[in-house]
Amino acid sequence: MNTETSVNLTVDRATCVALDVADPLAGFRDRFALPDGVVYLDGNSLGALPKTTAAQVERVITEEWGTGLIRSWNDAGWFAKPAVLGDRIAPIIGAAPGEVVLGDSTSASLFQAAVAAVRLRPGRRVLISERGNFPTDLYMLEAVQELLGDDEPLERRLIDDDGPTLDDELDDDVAVVVLTHVDYRTGRMRDLAEVTRQVQAAGAVMLWDLCHSVGAVPVDLNGAGADFAIGCTYKYLNGGPGSPSFIWVAGRHQAAARPALTGWHGHARPFDFELGYAPADGITRFRVGTPQLLSMSALEASLDIWDEVDIELVREKSLRLTELFISLVDTRLAPRGVEVATPRQSARRGSQVSLRVENGYAIMQALIERGVIGDFRAPDLMRFGFTPLYVSHTDVWDAVAALEEILATEAWREPRFARRGAVT
Ligand SMILES: Cc1ncc(COP(=O)(O)O)c(C=O)c1O
Repeated sequence: MNTETSVNLTVDRATCVALDVADPLAGFRDRFALPDGVVYLDGNSLGALPKTTAAQVERVITEEWGTGLIRSWNDAGWFAKPAVLGDRIAPIIGAAPGEVVLGDSTSASLFQAAVAAVRLRPGRRVLISERGNFPTDLYMLEAVQELLGDDEPLERRLIDDDGPTLDDELDDDVAVVVLTHVDYRTGRMRDLAEVTRQVQAAGAVMLWDLCHSVGAVPVDLNGAGADFAIGCTYKYLNGGPGSPSFIWVAGRHQAAARPALTGWHGHARPFDFELGYAPADGITRFRVGTPQLLSMSALEASLDIWDEVDIELVREKSLRLTELFISLVDTRLAPRGVEVATPRQSARRGSQVSLRVENGYAIMQALIERGVIGDFRAPDLMRFGFTPLYVSHTDVWDAVAALEEILATEAWREPRFARRGAVT
C-alpha cells in the first residue's frame, strides 16, 4: 500500500471541493482561458493559454512590429529579449541572473549545450545517457558523437533502470552525462543534487534536461552545483506551441564554454560584421540567430503569471493532486486492471502520473471525447499531467470518475477510438 499517500481513502467529491476552497493557488485558474467542460491534464505536454497572451502577442505585432518596425530592435528591447526572459526563468530553476538564455527548440539547445560540455573535457571519449530518455536527446547526442569524434565517433553508453547503472558506466573516460530530471513517460524524478555530485566526482560534466521539471517542481541548479541544463517553455511554463527553449550554463563555465553553433547573435560584436567569429561574454555566446520574437511575446505573458508564483506552493499542491489521483486509482480503478506506473514515493515523483493499462490508447481517446484530456505514450502508458496553477482537486475526482465509467461500460471499444492520429 502507498505509505506516502496522505489523502483519506474515504474522500468524496465534496472533500475535493473543500480542498479547492482552501487551495492557496486556486486564484490562478482564472488567469487561464480553459474551455468550459474540459478537465485539462496534459499541461505536461502543452500548457494552457493564459488569458493575457493573445493581447500581448497582438500588441507586439501591431505596435512593436507594425508601428515600431525595425526601430523595435532597440526601442522595444528585441535584441536583449532572449537574455531578459532568461533572467525571468532563472529563479524558477535556481539559476542566477546572466546564466539563462532563450534558444531555439529544446533539441537544438541540447546540441548547443552538449557540444560545449564535451569540449570542457578534452581527451575523454564517452557520453552517457539513458535508454528511457526522450528520443530527441539521444538523436542529438548521435550528432554530437559524430561532430566531436576525430577519427571515429565518441562512444555512447546508455544506462537503464534494469542496468547498467550510472555507477557501472561512470569512469575516467566519461566526458558528459545527459539525463532527464523527470522522466517523460513515467514521471519518475531523479535526485538532481545527488546525481550531479556522483557525475562530477568521476570528473565528468552533468547536463540536465528539465523539460518536465521547469514550473512543475522546485529545481535548484546552483544549489546542486550543476554544470549545464536545457528545457522547454511550452509545458508547465505555458509559453504556447513552439515557444523557445532555454539554456542554463553555470557562471563558472561560461568563459571557457565553446558552443556548437556560432551564429552572429552569439558574437561579441554582432554589428561590427567582422569576418571571423568571436564569442560574446557570458551566456550570450549560446545564442545563435534572430530570435522568435512573436513566440517570445507569448512566453512573456505567461512569465507575468510566473513572476507571482511561489514554486514551493506549486510543489505542495502538485503532491496533493498526484497523491489524490493515485489513491483514487488504487481504490476505484485497480480492480479493473489499471496499474500506477509512477513512483509512489513523493520525492521520486514529478507532477505527472502515468497509468499502465491494456488498450490504453483507445481508453484515452474515449476519455478525451468526454472532455478529460491526457495523452498516451507507446506502448501502454496513459499520461496525466497535474499543473497546479489551473488543475483543481475536483478535476482529479471528475477525471477518475470518467475513467471508471469508460472502463465499466467498455465505451472505449467503439472502433473510432482505435484510430491513431499522427500525434498521440
Ligand atoms: C524530455 C524532453 N526533451 C525534449 C523534448 C522535445 O524537444 P523539442 O522542444 O525540441 O521538440 C521533449 C518533448 O516533449 C521532452 O519531453
